[in-house]
Amino acid sequence: MGLRSALFAAQYDAAMRQAEHEELASRRAALLSGLNGIVYDVGAGTGANLRHFPPSCQVTAVEPDPNMRKRLEAKVGSVGNVRVVAAGAEALQAEDASVDAVVFTLVLCSVPDQATALAETRRVLKPEGRLLFLEHVRGTGAHATFQDLLRPVWSFAAQGCQLNRNTVAAISAAGFNVAVQDEFSVGPGWLPVNPMVMGTATPEG
Ligand SMILES: C[S@@+](CC[C@H](N)C(=O)[O-])C[C@H]1O[C@@H](n2cnc3c(N)ncnc32)[C@H](O)[C@@H]1O
Repeated sequence: MGLRSALFAAQYDAAMRQAEHEELASRRAALLSGLNGIVYDVGAGTGANLRHFPPSCQVTAVEPDPNMRKRLEAKVGSVGNVRVVAAGAEALQAEDASVDAVVFTLVLCSVPDQATALAETRRVLKPEGRLLFLEHVRGTGAHATFQDLLRPVWSFAAQGCQLNRNTVAAISAAGFNVAVQDEFSVGPGWLPVNPMVMGTATPEG
């Protein structure tokens, strides 16, 4: 686990470079551009979202993996207005109803239990707060079967990432009103990490 975690973190930015350049960086910018106030970037990884947060945000970057966190801390040094916390989505170290936005990008595929992570998100969000997501999700038909078959090997190689989660339904089931802004592919649509979805969700009243 330690060695795999170290290898995953070491290759993450290089492995993502082309996808970031072609699609993901602009998607992150579009998702995060309207934010302000207290923001939790959960599973912040190596810090791909950091440069997209407007200066008016006070960002807490939550990252449980020490190998990812080391890289995150190195990037935070040059950004400002960001603190890094060693924690998981299951326990966000925030007061009830105190956070304006919780951001998940490519993370709800990897948390051990989506329902627990989303319940914690609900707990910390202000009533008018928002959950923002950009995630790869389960496809349909033969593509979903392909994801089901590949899932065990993929999960082993990619730090627990589950290819076949119906994440939008899970957010909805956790008590949010979900607005999907876009569904898209990064590269060829047959890749197992497609389709991707991005959008926002607000706590049900
Ligand atoms: C694929 S990376 C995505 C990183 C970053 N959010 C991005 O958009 O590039 C998944 C991240 O989720 C983190 N993660 C895994 N389980 C988690 C949990 N239970 N709570 C919070 N983060 C978690 C991993 O450590 C890793 O940094």
